[in-house]
Amino acid sequence: MSPSTDPPSEESTCHVSVLPDEIVQWVADCQPRVVIDGTFGGGGHARRLLDVVPADGLVIGLDRDPAVLARVESQPPTERLTVFLGSYEQAGEAMKRCDVKAADAMVLDLGLSSDQLADRNRGFSFQNDGPLDLRFDPESGVPASEWLSRRSEKEIADAIYQYGEERASRRIAREIVGRQRERRPVQTVNDLVEICRRCVRRGKHHDIHPATRTFQALRIAVNEELEILKRTLQIAPQWLSPGGRLAVISFHSLEDRLVKTAFRDDPRWNVLTRKPIRPGDAETQANPRARSAKLRVAERATS
Ligand SMILES: C[S@@+](CC[C@H](N)C(=O)[O-])C[C@H]1O[C@@H](n2cnc3c(N)ncnc32)[C@H](O)[C@@H]1O
Repeated sequence: MSPSTDPPSEESTCHVSVLPDEIVQWVADCQPRVVIDGTFGGGGHARRLLDVVPADGLVIGLDRDPAVLARVESQPPTERLTVFLGSYEQAGEAMKRCDVKAADAMVLDLGLSSDQLADRNRGFSFQNDGPLDLRFDPESGVPASEWLSRRSEKEIADAIYQYGEERASRRIAREIVGRQRERRPVQTVNDLVEICRRCVRRGKHHDIHPATRTFQALRIAVNEELEILKRTLQIAPQWLSPGGRLAVISFHSLEDRLVKTAFRDDPRWNVLTRKPIRPGDAETQANPRARSAKLRVAERATS
């Protein structure tokens, strides 16, 4: 993990934070001195969180994406913010590096940012052709194209079904592996979009693009998103002070289910949001990305 103490710039990111007022309110209520923003992204939440920590307080940011760190480093530094390149499951290590024993709140805003979606070289947007990469950290692990070439047809189908809830998963996996046999493996966004178009029957209302579920599934698999979230929910109470809060914004049912059950079934958590908090109409109109967001908050039990 490499730290940077430079602040985020509003101008250099196109990401609009989701549920910013709600995040600030839930965090501010516990009067935090140290807050961890585990998914720093464009720094929108972190910027708002700096307003609720005292003059001797600290916001510790983490993100897996080196482009986030590069953006932070191009800005003039600020004392109360330190951003690390690394996964949010390494928050304990980041705290040690900042000489912090316990945090008072942690925020996770899962998924990807609009900056990542807009970058053609990352493969996140099936509207733009480019290499099929899909990694949050393009400097570690393997790109999605290589992930596909190393898996069996069944493993690919299972991942697309499990992480994308895509009914055409078997057909899609068969075509992906078929192309590999013909020595023209799936390497670009368009290669995979073409396959999805052929395999996925569009619903009556044509509500989502035929590649949406498959791209979501591969992104989750390549980045091991659910495994990391599960491990973090398990370890996070150790990082928080008694009464410290964890606020998680998720964007699909698989993530939300993990958060809901971890909060409900682990006696170290007190659930503060009986039902998930959803963005209002004004927010979803201004920021359509917010439509599927769900925020859940729990606090570390005091005994
Ligand atoms: C939705 S964006 C966060 C936006 C941010 N809250 C804001 O207001 O600008 C999600 C970010 O989480 C990062 N990310 C995804 N998985 C991560 C992980 N395991 N650890 C750290 N960052 C992660 C992505 O690289 C992306 O930058």
